[in-house]
Amino acid sequence: MTRDSSQQPPVFKGKVQDTGTTFAAPADQSLFASMRQAGIDWPVSCRNGTCRTCIGRLVEGQVAYDIPWPGLSLEEKRDGYCLPCIARPMGDIVIQRT
Ligand code: FES
Repeated sequence: MTRDSSQQPPVFKGKVQDTGTTFAAPADQSLFASMRQAGIDWPVSCRNGTCRTCIGRLVEGQVAYDIPWPGLSLEEKRDGYCLPCIARPMGDIVIQRT
């Protein structure tokens, strides 16, 4: 994690497990936006947490959502599934394609 003195949100480390590709993951933007900035090709459609096109599984780390229950069941969340189009990292993460 990198934090500077100008009160910028923390920037965590992200990694796509399947390819080993790494990316910067600022706490204030979605994982999808961060992956896209890094040139990572990740499926996306609605970008609002309903269609599940972007679904991935967190191998490490945790994410937060701006709305309480995006399009995932409680069981899926427990199993580490997340929707990168609306998920913000809470620390370093490793994500896997599903
Ligand atoms: S792109 Fe539709 S849920 Fe993420």
